[in-house]
Amino acid sequence: MATNLDFDTVDLQHKDRRILHPWEGLEEIGREQRTVIVKGEGVYVYDTEGNRYIDAPGGMWCVNIGHGRREIVEAMSQQAMDLSFYGIWNLANAPSAMLAAKLAELSPGDLNHVFFTTGGSTANESALRFVMFYNNLRGRPEKKHIIALENAYHGSTHLTSSCSGKDVATSPFDLETRFIHFLSSPNPSKRPSGMSVEAFCDARVEEFEQKILEIGPERVAAFIAEPVMGAGGVIVPPEGFQRRTHALCRKYDVLYIADEVVTAFGRLGHFFATEGEFGIVPDIISVAKGITSAYVPLGAMLVSDRLLEGFVGEDAKATGFYHGFTYSGHPVACAAALKNIELMEQEGILEHVREVGPYFQERLRELKDLPIISDVRGTGLMACIECSIGTGDEDTLETDAMIGKRVDRHCQDLGLIVRPLFNLCVMSPPLVITKSQIDDLVGMLRQGVERTIEELRQEGLFEG
Ligand SMILES: Cc1ncc(COP(=O)(O)O)c(C=O)c1O
Repeated sequence: MATNLDFDTVDLQHKDRRILHPWEGLEEIGREQRTVIVKGEGVYVYDTEGNRYIDAPGGMWCVNIGHGRREIVEAMSQQAMDLSFYGIWNLANAPSAMLAAKLAELSPGDLNHVFFTTGGSTANESALRFVMFYNNLRGRPEKKHIIALENAYHGSTHLTSSCSGKDVATSPFDLETRFIHFLSSPNPSKRPSGMSVEAFCDARVEEFEQKILEIGPERVAAFIAEPVMGAGGVIVPPEGFQRRTHALCRKYDVLYIADEVVTAFGRLGHFFATEGEFGIVPDIISVAKGITSAYVPLGAMLVSDRLLEGFVGEDAKATGFYHGFTYSGHPVACAAALKNIELMEQEGILEHVREVGPYFQERLRELKDLPIISDVRGTGLMACIECSIGTGDEDTLETDAMIGKRVDRHCQDLGLIVRPLFNLCVMSPPLVITKSQIDDLVGMLRQGVERTIEELRQEGLFEG
């Protein structure tokens, strides 16, 4: 399918330089020549020149049902005609009420209350603010400390970015460090040599308990974690990590906030991976991205009924949850989410992911024979390849950091987009991907990595 609109690529690239792109390196501002994507269909996207690519990042962990689904567009269009917007601060609107009921039906345990947000950062920010609010109302103002995982990504607001990554103390954004604590990454691939995965899990869980005890359980408010870490490098914690950290939260009266912005709505083959995949019922779950398959922005925080008991209705204190966004419960976004969920149910998309996910993982692991691929990891339809040219000394680290971009550039020439993150290429394709499209993806990725190796050799950067 060629693009049917007439685009001037160079002109668009020039105009695009006016944009301060998210997470852009300062040296790249105003210099990058980006591929301009103008069309999408299923797992494919097309650029201004009519080139077709497999969209391996699925937008950015979000185009779950695939590009170009007319049913979602029609649901949004119908809703926009009926009522393009009415907020839910004083009145209600129909799609947000229906979506809240649907989310309560699908969500684990008693997570039956929904606070709508505009995306994942605002969902996590709401969760963190809710925790502060909750402990103040409980008469526990000292219980405010948050524990997060090193290399987590929870968003780009002040508080959520303070709970992300690990270089928080040296961030040029002056992040919050007073009440946020980090645990070492639960990445089993990076465990000390000779240590079993079970012993590694024991060590990470032990570290968590020690951290709670060190801060004092009476001061620890919440643990926030992605069930499988996405932007931090697709880190699948060792078996039992989620269940055991959840149990420790219960033991020490610490709330468990599951950041399911990536893992919910099918990425691991369940509407919610926490319960479906890992058998836990968190206290709060944040979602975004796949809730609308990215047709329009929407996020939500789901809260356990238990947390609201004692504060609402007849027991209410003379205060309010003074927190909200103009676009909380936007009717067009909620209509898109309802249709997205309906299609996922009708078309058995979760079952499809459970079938093709293991195939995707297995095929990707075949790439381990390539000499610069140091690790391939993932689960369901999220994965990454990690590249390294060698010893880890200063020079090679610098080359490693640019490998993802090199691989992506070669893959684009072949018809595949991967998301470069330093030395990683991260993938989370639309959930409707077929086995033969997975074969195409892996084939192009292999060739892209081989071309990168050749290029590195020619530049004298790699000899293996
Ligand atoms: C796990 C996770 N949480 C939160 C966010 C932030 O979501 P948003 O970019 O919609 O604000 C992201 C974004 O990638 C994410 O991956």
